[in-house]
Amino acid sequence: MRFDVFTLLPDTFSPYLQASILQKAAERGLLEFHVHNIRDYTHDRHHTTDDTPYGGGGGMVMKPEPVFEAVESVLSTQPACPVILMTPQGRVFNQKIALDLATLPQVALLCGRYEGIDERIREHLVTDEISIGDYVLTGGELPALILIDAIARLLPGVLGDPDGAMDDSHASGLLEYPHYTRPPEFRGWGVPETLLSGDHGRISRWRREQALLRTLHRRPDILEKAELSKAEQKFIEDQKRKE
Ligand code: ADE
Repeated sequence: MRFDVFTLLPDTFSPYLQASILQKAAERGLLEFHVHNIRDYTHDRHHTTDDTPYGGGGGMVMKPEPVFEAVESVLSTQPACPVILMTPQGRVFNQKIALDLATLPQVALLCGRYEGIDERIREHLVTDEISIGDYVLTGGELPALILIDAIARLLPGVLGDPDGAMDDSHASGLLEYPHYTRPPEFRGWGVPETLLSGDHGRISRWRREQALLRTLHRRPDILEKAELSKAEQKFIEDQKRKE
């Protein structure tokens, strides 16, 4: 899968991309990252990428020309792919969106900066708008990295463990069960006996129950939407009664 990022801060991407498991996946040819500096697509002496807003008011607005030129010149040689603007006004990112985007061969991510971007970019260049949550950051670079990370780890071969992403919180519609590793006793705190039993049937039942309980207690909103068997629904009802 290929990611094309358009940004005014290209240097912010490599520290994370090069230090993480994503770099290894790129070396193995599973991922390609192309980070483009929007400033390289300006033609004036000062390489201007922003200007004051029409109608007055504070802040600066990203100019349309360099953004259009950057995106169009890079994507003109590629088959059509979504151009996603990172903005707090977009649809809120979640695991379902990550899974959908992970089916595509390429996505382009446009990082906003300053107070905003010229509306014509939004109307005539961008095909999707995504927010990573209801808070405002100084730019779309961290949100773009979050999208890349969440999507890339879903691609076959990117995680060391081929089933690595299967039990993730949210992947199955539930939060993930608790994990333990050695030592079996740490500061007097033990490990649930079931996990030491070697009985794989019991262990997987325990994990499913723990995932259900965790989701019930922490995210009842997502439990409502999860697909549960009759037995699981009864387990939840019994649990609610007990509490
Ligand atoms: N840019 C600034 N804040 C953002 C957010 N919450 N999500 C996506 N892009 C942003």
